[in-house]
Amino acid sequence: MDLRGTFSWACCLLSSLYISSAFALPVGNSSPVAEILDPAVGQFWHVTDLHLDPTYHITEDHTKVCSSSHGANASNPGPFGDFLCDSPYQLILSAFNFIKSSGQQASFMIWTGDSPPHIPVKELSTDVVINVIGNMTTTIQSLFPNLQVFPALGNHDYWPQDQLPISSSKVYDAVANFWKPWLSEEAIHTLRKGGFYSQTVPSHRNPQSLRIISLNTNLYYSPNNVTLNQTDPANQFEWLENTLKSSRQNKEKVYVIAHVPVGYLPYSRNTTAMREYYNEKLIGIFHKYSDIIAGQFYGHTHRDSIMVLSDSKGNPVSSLFVAPAVTPVKSVKEKFTNNPGIRLFQYDLNDYRLLDTWQYYLNLTEANMKEEPSWKLEYILTKAYGIEDLQPKNLYELAKQFTVLDNKQFLTYYKHFFVSYDSDIMCSGDCKTFQICAIMNLDQESYANCLEQYGLWHMQ
Ligand SMILES: *[C@@H]1O[C@H](CO)[C@@H](O)[C@H](O)[C@H]1NC(C)=O
Ligand SMILES: *[C@@H]1O[C@H](CO)[C@@H](O)[C@H](O)[C@H]1NC(C)=O
Ligand SMILES: *[C@@H]1O[C@H](CO)[C@@H](O)[C@H](O)[C@H]1NC(C)=O
Ligand SMILES: *[C@@H]1O[C@H](CO)[C@@H](O)[C@H](O)[C@H]1NC(C)=O
Ligand SMILES: *[C@@H]1O[C@H](CO)[C@@H](O)[C@H](O)[C@H]1NC(C)=O
Ligand SMILES: *[C@@H]1O[C@H](CO)[C@@H](O)[C@H](O)[C@H]1NC(C)=O
Repeated sequence: MDLRGTFSWACCLLSSLYISSAFALPVGNSSPVAEILDPAVGQFWHVTDLHLDPTYHITEDHTKVCSSSHGANASNPGPFGDFLCDSPYQLILSAFNFIKSSGQQASFMIWTGDSPPHIPVKELSTDVVINVIGNMTTTIQSLFPNLQVFPALGNHDYWPQDQLPISSSKVYDAVANFWKPWLSEEAIHTLRKGGFYSQTVPSHRNPQSLRIISLNTNLYYSPNNVTLNQTDPANQFEWLENTLKSSRQNKEKVYVIAHVPVGYLPYSRNTTAMREYYNEKLIGIFHKYSDIIAGQFYGHTHRDSIMVLSDSKGNPVSSLFVAPAVTPVKSVKEKFTNNPGIRLFQYDLNDYRLLDTWQYYLNLTEANMKEEPSWKLEYILTKAYGIEDLQPKNLYELAKQFTVLDNKQFLTYYKHFFVSYDSDIMCSGDCKTFQICAIMNLDQESYANCLEQYGLWHMQ
């Protein structure tokens, strides 16, 4: 990180804090901002889908800039990346340097997986995959030696990709060793066996504990052939229920973190990321324990989206957040992608209720032009949408407003969906229906009802 970079981050943060935060006060003028938080408010970072492409380099022949462009010409390659490439190391470093210099106090960070690049299986290997995850881990550990990090495995964090196994493996072993400084012995034990774990977050002020449950939802991911036809791969469902049961007995609150999200993909019709059977099963468990699950956090889609789980009577009971990727990559065929994004969550330290999201992004075009990575605040969720906090009922009311024709908040939501990649992207008609049905309906029955309600039942 150079001095120019530091200065510009500080200045942008300062201005964003001035205009937008009720309880954040900027301190000093050129040093990084130290935020004075309400003592009852805790914060944590969420980073996901780093997708490091170690081959990224600027060169005359644009087909050779990165393996992740699959032979296509990179569009406008610069020091912080290209929209047809996965992340250069400099982009990832700029994200973590921004977090470090932001002045935001965070009690922990969640990191929901996918470190290796999107390149053909034959160009990777178990060793390369392990190396990339090791590189990312070392990078985080050296920049944040005192920060508690809770990782989750992604479908690319394995070789061959998506084929995460139901018992011990070289990759599970390697990550268990990498993540030892962050995790308890018990967590390391289940991580080694099935790629999942749970662990409580230490708190000095609250006798009630917060438990992080890091699921290996890659076992449920449709392209995973290893788990085909299995009712409970790696016995993770059984473990999850037991973990939630004892959490409830111990009066804990739970944050669920994972890579592949539950529910329906917002950009496609009637498609779950997981196999339907697994999705129904997970939703059933989340219904049953919604009284103790205070938040759910996912990655994988590279897009910024929300979901609200409702109970059988239609009452909203759980808030889910899919965070956008750090990698800006898209394929040649895709029209849109995301700017690199990272986010900060605020929660109530007394009951772990989620209060707000601060979404930060890098305007990649601008960063390359100025050769300087000015990460900025993209939006504060409660302010952008005029809601009080992130409670399920508030997200549900917001989603109901989205359904109104030409609703302004939905325009904003759709701009944020692509991390402000292009403010002119429009989404109406079927596009909007799929978005809204995916926000409000996570199981097969209610999703089908939603399509029916919008007259899209018969359309294929
Ligand atoms: C890449 O760009 C060069 C120069 O414009 C062009 O000659 C070449 O055909 C392009 N390659 C591909 C794969 O599009
Ligand atoms: C991670 O990889 C990058 C790019 O390939 C390299 O420059 C860097 O030194 C590596 N860092 C670690 C900690 O392995
Ligand atoms: C998984 O199964 C599909 C369908 O049978 C097949 O096309 C694919 O090659 C398999 N992938 C692996 C990695 O075995
Ligand atoms: C899964 O079940 C289907 C249908 O019962 C069967 O055709 C298929 O061979 C099974 N696959 C595996 C990997 O067991
Ligand atoms: C990103 O930067 C480019 C180039 O300066 C600019 O045209 C675009 O409007 C910027 N996007 C946003 C969301 O600020
Ligand atoms: C959605 O997909 C499922 C399984 O793929 C299918 O059984 C169901 O009929 C579909 N529903 C709608 C409304 O298209």
